[in-house]
Amino acid sequence: MNDGSQPILSLRGIDKRFGAVQALSDVSLDVRPGEVVALVGDNGAGKSTLVKIMSGVYQPDGGEIVFDGLPVSINGPKASQALGIATVFQDLALCDNLDVVANLFLGHERTSGGVLDEVEMERHSWELLRQLSAKIPSVRIPIASLSGGQRQTVAIARSLVGEPKVVMLDEPTAALGVAQTAEVLNLIERLRKRGLGVVLITHNMADVQAVADRIYVLRLGHNSAEFAIGEVTTEQLVAAITGASDNVVAERAARDRTGSAITPEDIDPYAVLPDGAGGPGRVSPDPDQERDA
Ligand SMILES: Nc1ncnc2c1ncn2[C@@H]1O[C@H](COP(=O)(O)OP(=O)(O)OP(=O)(O)O)[C@@H](O)[C@H]1O
Ligand SMILES: [Mg+2]
Repeated sequence: MNDGSQPILSLRGIDKRFGAVQALSDVSLDVRPGEVVALVGDNGAGKSTLVKIMSGVYQPDGGEIVFDGLPVSINGPKASQALGIATVFQDLALCDNLDVVANLFLGHERTSGGVLDEVEMERHSWELLRQLSAKIPSVRIPIASLSGGQRQTVAIARSLVGEPKVVMLDEPTAALGVAQTAEVLNLIERLRKRGLGVVLITHNMADVQAVADRIYVLRLGHNSAEFAIGEVTTEQLVAAITGASDNVVAERAARDRTGSAITPEDIDPYAVLPDGAGGPGRVSPDPDQERDA
């Protein structure tokens, strides 16, 4: 029995190579029940590859995966789900023309006497959404008529249909506005309270600071740093992600701490990506490149 102090999912020394690209080298990660672990890193750091290994899309070349104390091999998405690992991919993979109930039970339809049990599925849909305190007006409207945040909510609710122990969320707030981001962060909080282990991939340092308990930084396919929340500042995180302390975000934060006033020259709008994909605090991978683009 896992009392919450032992990891529900552990990766040890994971390697993954794609041709000439060593996407992951000796990467380790633990998730405990009731814990939100943020996985951060620059573009190409290996975050999605690591998630795809946990969700059975890719097989690691080396290393060990331990689930609930037992070594496992996750040789496909079905094996991952059967263990109790649910993944909400960035594109959500919802069917726009189907209603909320149909999406929640896609591939897991409930039947009674050989026909779809719509009443039971609708009842269960409301129950799932209520557990998440989700603000969905009706479960009989097509996904196409929901907002981005509501769709994210439906995708997260769908991941819970199989009663998983670990939920992985790939950039769940990337396309959302401020209020919807707050709603999704509240939802993550509820997953934690339900005792699930949550792996949150994000570029948004504000999200990390808001909900994560621990943070893993991947850099160039390696574990670059691990922090407990509260013991790390945003600029330290940025330094670990970029591998440098000489970037504008870290510099300004250091100046702020020493109390020097900020002048207009200090304000570099390119420290925050203007691509609409991230909220405040989204870190530019390379300010110069962004500016030239
Ligand atoms: N299927 C694949 N075939 C070849 N190379 C791949 C494949 N998937 C990933 N890679 C490479 O592995 C490295 C890690 O990629 P990955 O997608 O895991 O990064 P990431 O951290 O998710 O980046 P991003 O923040 O841009 O999503 C990159 O160099 C990428 O080009
Ligand atoms: Mg990725």
